[in-house]
Amino acid sequence: MQPAGREHWKSSLGFVLAAAGSAVGLGNIWRFPTLTGQNGGGGFVLLYVSIVLLVGLPLMYVELSMGRAAQLGPVGAFRTLAPHRAWRALGYLFVLTGIVILSYYGVVAGWTLKYFWMAVVDGFTKEASGPAFGAFTKNGTLQIAFLAAFLGLTTGIVFFGVKGGIERMSTVLMPVLFVLLLLLIVYALTLPTALDGLCFYLIPDPASISGKTFVFAAGQAFFSLSLGMGAMLTYGSYLSPGSNLMRSGLVVVLCDTAVAIMAGLLIFPVLGGAPDKSGPGLVFVVLTDLFATLPAGRFVGALFFLLLAIAALTSTISLMEVAASYWIDERGWSRKKAVGVTAGLVLLLGVPSALSLGAVGGLGNVLSIGGKALGFLDLMDFFFGNVSLTLGGFLLVLFALLAWKRARFEAELYAGSGTPAVVRKGLFFLLAVLAPLCLGGILGYMLITGQTLG
Ligand code: PFF
Repeated sequence: MQPAGREHWKSSLGFVLAAAGSAVGLGNIWRFPTLTGQNGGGGFVLLYVSIVLLVGLPLMYVELSMGRAAQLGPVGAFRTLAPHRAWRALGYLFVLTGIVILSYYGVVAGWTLKYFWMAVVDGFTKEASGPAFGAFTKNGTLQIAFLAAFLGLTTGIVFFGVKGGIERMSTVLMPVLFVLLLLLIVYALTLPTALDGLCFYLIPDPASISGKTFVFAAGQAFFSLSLGMGAMLTYGSYLSPGSNLMRSGLVVVLCDTAVAIMAGLLIFPVLGGAPDKSGPGLVFVVLTDLFATLPAGRFVGALFFLLLAIAALTSTISLMEVAASYWIDERGWSRKKAVGVTAGLVLLLGVPSALSLGAVGGLGNVLSIGGKALGFLDLMDFFFGNVSLTLGGFLLVLFALLAWKRARFEAELYAGSGTPAVVRKGLFFLLAVLAPLCLGGILGYMLITGQTLG
């Protein structure tokens, strides 16, 4: 069922900003610097950028081409492009993955509102930031309230549709995000700790690169580019036939990578080297500690958490749109009903994640993988934020080449782009050889060792 009046992006710049908005998120500003810190600095950055360009970019092209060709979200795209019904199951997995990722991503996104509020209203106190963070994550009511608030913002935007909601907000928020990030970098580079931080961040140390670094870098690349669960496919389905996919896809990937690299240029000069805390601690404890002591720290802190909130919001709207497009395309629901039902489901699923950070002891230790105790939120991140995205990416490559077939995929991707033959050949090699090897290898490694990549 292809809706006759399918909405399309107003302009190709609007599409690029919305897709870059999906890609740029907590993954760039929080997860990327954390992983870089844990995995030895410059070497990790080098590997990350190589994987983004060699595997991430080709996969981005697969998703965008599928979406534009089908003019439908993931379930509809597999239904219309694939000869075999079994592929449809992958579409359903994508919708489920979007809902689950949103349910826990929304919890952390909610923290950015709380910390922005804290900077503006109370200011930061150094001694109190660690215990205050612990007390906050243990407070189940507050965790659910901030999750609900963030979902409320997301729902409000997605409700207004592709042009009036997603594109309009992304066109305003993405330039604001970029300017805020630039201002914060300029400030960070004036600090006495800047040089040590930059050396750690930018000078690769070959000894720090191992198989594990490779797996972490690849997992981060797919998460950061929003690949492997149909988000880019869904955004691609709102493109009109005439657009130049080769160019738009490249710009989106470069924007995402630039923001990740820039986040490092902000965080490492402030830290002056490798962070001694990982995960949530990096941003919400270590940086808050620093904001408490730095000149103009409260103001800078407020800008920083605003930046983080904007980045998270343009990502949560894309996560919600994947599920909303399913109800609209496949079930013929109104956007209002689709968005309302999705928000309800996400909130329900988000409650155990919100309560797993100290509020309810049992939810904090649900399963042990690879000798590591995982709480409900970690578990969702492991299965949906890591395994499902990698599996999704792997199967998408197989789908494009074996089921949809190379000729049709390439006809869609290259339409109107005048791409030279040598580039086409190179891209085919990356998709047919490098991507399956890389994605298959990571999948095996994750399942065997239980590495959560986070
Ligand atoms: N790319 C987002 C980030 O880096 O924070 C996370 C994300 C958004 C993943 C949308 C997947 C997705 F479909």
